[in-house]
Amino acid sequence: MGIKILKTSSYVPGEPIDNSYYVSYLDTSDEWIRQRTGIETRYISKDEGTETMSVKAAEKLELTDEEKARIKVVLVATTTSTSTVPINACILQGALGLSEDIYACDIGMACAGFVAALRMADALLKEGELALVVGVEVLSKMSDKTDRSTVILFGDGAGAVLIEKNDKESYFEGGSRYSEVLASKLLPMTGDVEYLTMDGAAVFRFALEVMNASMNNLLERSGNSYDEIDWYILHQANKRILEGTARKFGVSPDRFPMNMNKYGNTSSASIPLLLDELNRAGKLKRGQKMIMAGFGGGLTWQAVYLEW
Ligand code: UT7
Repeated sequence: MGIKILKTSSYVPGEPIDNSYYVSYLDTSDEWIRQRTGIETRYISKDEGTETMSVKAAEKLELTDEEKARIKVVLVATTTSTSTVPINACILQGALGLSEDIYACDIGMACAGFVAALRMADALLKEGELALVVGVEVLSKMSDKTDRSTVILFGDGAGAVLIEKNDKESYFEGGSRYSEVLASKLLPMTGDVEYLTMDGAAVFRFALEVMNASMNNLLERSGNSYDEIDWYILHQANKRILEGTARKFGVSPDRFPMNMNKYGNTSSASIPLLLDELNRAGKLKRGQKMIMAGFGGGLTWQAVYLEW
């Protein structure tokens, strides 16, 4: 048994901020940002936190009373939670009026968080039950406005999916690695604001390495060739990572859809934001084969093969 995604939705705060905003006060250029990352705009929250945005995204799923009654698992993937307690998943439970006999949990696995939550849903769900899985971030709150190497990358947003068990197998791959070099600063959970730092070039190399290995394992385990996968839905960190992976697999870049040009890098939210965009555009067809993969802080990576 595996998992099937029944519905998707998403929410982004405010108006898009384009590259010219950063060019106005930092030593950077629109050309550098577009060429090195693929990012043109991103959405930055003024006053909405993870708890508000996850509720707004989930409400857009337009859950019926029958669906709400069947929800037994609520998972919120985030590394930028507005509150430590109450957790986002319980806030969501309350906002949607879900029953108390559910497993509600926040998952902090950075950019691998959404796929990690799918993996947890796969393990927890029983036949006939539904899981609500959300990826949500306000990375802008952790970005140093004066650091051109990070602030231009990150955006805020939320994506939600409704999941059930089905009789098609889903396969998961993943791992984690601690690196003192890459974890250049420990971010505290509470207290004064601390900013995220990143050795971008090293994370870039790590991403190519783990994407390649975990996707190859998924292809082997699911008995598919590169060409048989309809969609490679990867974390939207940098267009060059996706283009490099497509090249390595010898697959058309059209099968690696991208929307980091609009949203920037939204960590846990990037995969569900992209899923929702493709779904609403009518591009995802039932039975299509899909690999989703997230990679990032920690370091962590998670990938899944499933049928739409
Ligand atoms: O989401 C979770 C995981 N994160 C990722 O996957 C991020 C992966 N990494 C990346 O996407 C890229 O490494 C970055 C976009 C972060 C950086 O691109 P890069 O091509 O790896 O650049 P770099 O860090 O090697 O820096 C090259 C140059 C440096 O200048 P010097 O030392 O060569 O003079 C940087 O100071 O580019 C400079 N630079 C900039 N220049 C203009 C860094 N940021 C900027 C900027 N504008 N915004």
